[in-house]
Amino acid sequence: MAQSVKGTRDLFGNEMAWFQRIEDTARRVFARHGYEEIRTPVLEEIEVFKRSVGESSDIVNKEMYEFMDKGGRHVVMRPENTAGVVRAMIQHKLLINNDPKLLYYIGPMFRYERMQAGRYRQFWQIGAESFGVASPESEAESLLMLMAFLQELGLKHLSLSINSVGTSECRPAFHAAIRAFFQAREERFCEDCHRRIDTNPLRVLDCKSPGCQAALEGHPVITEYLDEASQRHHLRLKELLTALDVPFEENPRLVRGLDYYTRTAFEVLSSDLGAQSALLGGGRYDGLVKHLGGPEVPAFGWAIGLDRLAMLMQQLHGNAPLSPPALLIPLGEAAALKALLLARDWWSQGLAIQVETRGTNLKKALTSANRQGSKWALILGDGELEQGVVSAKDLSAGTQETWPLEEVPARLRG
Ligand code: HAM
Repeated sequence: MAQSVKGTRDLFGNEMAWFQRIEDTARRVFARHGYEEIRTPVLEEIEVFKRSVGESSDIVNKEMYEFMDKGGRHVVMRPENTAGVVRAMIQHKLLINNDPKLLYYIGPMFRYERMQAGRYRQFWQIGAESFGVASPESEAESLLMLMAFLQELGLKHLSLSINSVGTSECRPAFHAAIRAFFQAREERFCEDCHRRIDTNPLRVLDCKSPGCQAALEGHPVITEYLDEASQRHHLRLKELLTALDVPFEENPRLVRGLDYYTRTAFEVLSSDLGAQSALLGGGRYDGLVKHLGGPEVPAFGWAIGLDRLAMLMQQLHGNAPLSPPALLIPLGEAAALKALLLARDWWSQGLAIQVETRGTNLKKALTSANRQGSKWALILGDGELEQGVVSAKDLSAGTQETWPLEEVPARLRG
C-alpha cells in the first residue's frame, strides 16, 4: 500500500482543526495591521534561493528539493518564501513607487532535513514581510503584530531573542576578529565549523554542537563591531521594545541560517518545544531586493512554523474545539426530498447542517451522528412531515423534543 513520502504528512482531524484556527487568527490579526496576502508558486528557479539564502547556507547546500523539469529548467521546491516574495515584488514592479508594502503568506515549504519531532521535509509557514521602511519603528510594528498574533492564540512560555548582525560594511572587521579567535582554538571546533570559518564565519556562532558552543566562550561580540548607524538602529529598537513592554533578551550568538539578514535578527523560542525550540525567526534584509535585481528597498519580516505552532496549541489547549454540524435524517423517499429543500433554506441562513443521504435506517444514522460528535440529530419521518415538525434528538443528553420546522434555525442557534 502506498504511504506518504518520508518527511511529509497528511493533515486532518484535530491537527487540521488547529491549523485552521491558527490561519484564521493570522488572517484576522494581519488584516488589522494592513497586511495583504500574497501567494507565490512552490516552484522557483534555483537562482532565487542561491542568490538570497546563500550558497554557503545549509539550506542551499544540503536541503533543497531541486531538479530539472521536462523543459530543462533547474527548479527548486521553495525552502522558504522570503526570496520568492521578493522575486514576485520585483517581477510585478510593486516596489517602484517607494510606498511601504505589507504582505503575508501561508503555505508549504520543503527542506530535505533530518527528521526529528517538529521537523518535517514538507512543513508549513506563516510569514509576514514589510517592504520599503528602514526604521526600527517598522520592526517594532511588525513585532507588535507578531506578539498580538501569539497572544490571541493564548501561547505562553515564549521568549524573544534579538541581535544585530550589522551590514556588509561593518561585517569584515567582525569576520577578522572571529577568525583570529577561531584560529587560537581551532582544534576544539567541529568539521562543519572549519568549513564555515572560511565560507561564512558568522555561522560558527550558530553551531549546535555542545563542543563548539563551549569553545565559543568569550567570543568577539558582533554588536561591538557595528557601524554607528547600525548601532543607533539597534539601540533604538531596544528602546522601543522596552517602552512598548515587549520583553526581549539579547543573544550575541543569534545569527540565523540564511545569509540575507542585515542589522536586526531575531527568534522566538518556546520552552515547550524542547530541542526544536525555535518557533519562528526573522529579521531585516535591506540588501535583498536590490541583490535579486530590483530597486534599493529596505525590508523586514519573519516566518513562523505552523506545524510547531499547532503542536504547541495541542500541548497547551488539548484538542481543537470542534462543532460538528447537526445531522438531518429523513426517513423515506418523500422526506428525502423535503430534507434537501429544508437544508437548502437553513444553509442559506448560515446554519451548519449535514443531510443523511444514504437512505439508511434510523439506527445506523444515529450511530454515525454519535460517532462524528454531532449535538443534534433532526429526524424527519412521515409523521413529522405531516405535522410540519422534526424530532430533535439531543445526542449528548439522550432526550428528544419536537420542533416546528420554522423554529429549527433559532433552536439550533440557541
Ligand atoms: P527560518 O528560521 O528558516 O526562517 O524558518 C522559520 C520557521 O520555520 C522556523 O522557526 C521553524 O518554526 C519553521 N521551520 C523551519 N524548518 C522547518 C522544518 N523542517 N520543519 C518544521 N518547521 C520548520 C525563514 O524561513 C525566513 N524566510 C524567515 C523570514 C521571513 N525572514 C525574513 N522574513
